Amino acid sequence: MRVLVVGGGGREHAIAWKLRQSPKVKELFVALGNAGTAQIARNLPIRPSDIEALAQAAQEHQIDLAVIGPEAPLAAGIVDLFNLLRIPVFGPTQGAAAIESSKVFAKRLMEEHRIPCAKSSVFSSLPEARNYVKRQQTPIVIKADGLAAGKGVTVAQTQEEALKALDDCMKAKVFGDAGKQVLVEEYLVGQEVSVFAFTDGNTVVPMVAACDYKRALDDDKGPNTGGMGSYSPPKFLTEEHRQTIRKDILERAVQAMTKEGRPYKGVLYGGLMITKDGPKALEFNCRFGDPETQVVLPLLKTDLLEIILAVVESRLGTVKIDWEDEACVGVVMASGGYPGSYATGYAIQGLDSLDKDMLVFHAGTKLKRNESTGNDEVVTEGGRVLTLVARGKTLAEARKSVYNNIRCVHFHGCHYRKDIAKGL
Ligand code: AMP
Ligand code: GLY
Repeated sequence: MRVLVVGGGGREHAIAWKLRQSPKVKELFVALGNAGTAQIARNLPIRPSDIEALAQAAQEHQIDLAVIGPEAPLAAGIVDLFNLLRIPVFGPTQGAAAIESSKVFAKRLMEEHRIPCAKSSVFSSLPEARNYVKRQQTPIVIKADGLAAGKGVTVAQTQEEALKALDDCMKAKVFGDAGKQVLVEEYLVGQEVSVFAFTDGNTVVPMVAACDYKRALDDDKGPNTGGMGSYSPPKFLTEEHRQTIRKDILERAVQAMTKEGRPYKGVLYGGLMITKDGPKALEFNCRFGDPETQVVLPLLKTDLLEIILAVVESRLGTVKIDWEDEACVGVVMASGGYPGSYATGYAIQGLDSLDKDMLVFHAGTKLKRNESTGNDEVVTEGGRVLTLVARGKTLAEARKSVYNNIRCVHFHGCHYRKDIAKGL
């Protein structure tokens, strides 16, 4: 088969790496890709948001299956377009991707279909939202309705912070139209976990759970990022939690989407809080998560291509999905200054001196000709540069090998958290 992976981050490198292991994959393309995917696939210089150009490339390269990584092309309707062109594609349609692209839609869905979640109110008027917030306790959570590149959520510790978040969204319009409507949500206390599920709209198969570290610095200090590390599986998740997550959250959401006339296929991502009253949904995403995918897919025993084909062909119930009884820890190395502004183009050293069983999933990297040696070298090209991943019998073992190896890798200004999967 000729397979195209859309996206260019660590998640897409992990997806491409896993697909490469399938005997059925003859040719693999990644658009946009990075220096890591270039080693296992052919990169196409097309941005994931340019869905027309992707469709054209898919036809040109006679693609038999496209796998969509990020939310932007899904929300822009890439699946609808590929369906129209009869190019098999893995991911939800634009209508179904609303579960991520509109937090107001997702919240209504959760409430109407009794999916456990935080209580919230929706506002399209700034004065009404401000009045409401003034009558609430803090902490309180303010969420822009639409896609805001992971920056649309403010967990406000004080009234002032909450009011400022409302002003930013609805007056200064820092998220554009994505902030026209705002959700004001109850603050949930508990442990956060990401659970992804494969679904063909009927069968729902949850993957192993993972935890993401969103803050830039150790001990959850510093600004929010796209994710600085991850591990799987979390020990705090009990069998009872897993049952609730599968039945009351993920299956119920998929059934609800069918009832809404938006049948959901692909990966459904539950962003969950395990509270003292059990698991509750914070959000749904319409795709794999990043960096969790980099620690989830290495634990998957089953051929990912077979699972994806079963989803696309609506026969997921016929596939047995198996997981390694192991643990996995991933640490993100980021550019100096990230998540603020940063420079790029620095050579990355030490990638060839890692232990053989280490996995390196590239994100913001590219190949660049070194004029003095005449060789191509891997240089930094983004904020999150790569995820270093280790597997082990236990989390402690995996954590030890990842941190033993990360010292070998270096680029100018690099930083990473030292406390991923610490003390578990
Ligand atoms: P989201 O973009 O929806 O994943 O939100 C970003 C982060 O904000 C989440 O990962 C949580 O850490 C936090 N968050 C979102 N909603 C809530 C809530 N209702 N209570 C507490 N924390 C929340
Ligand atoms: N890990 C957060 C996300 O993928 O949205």
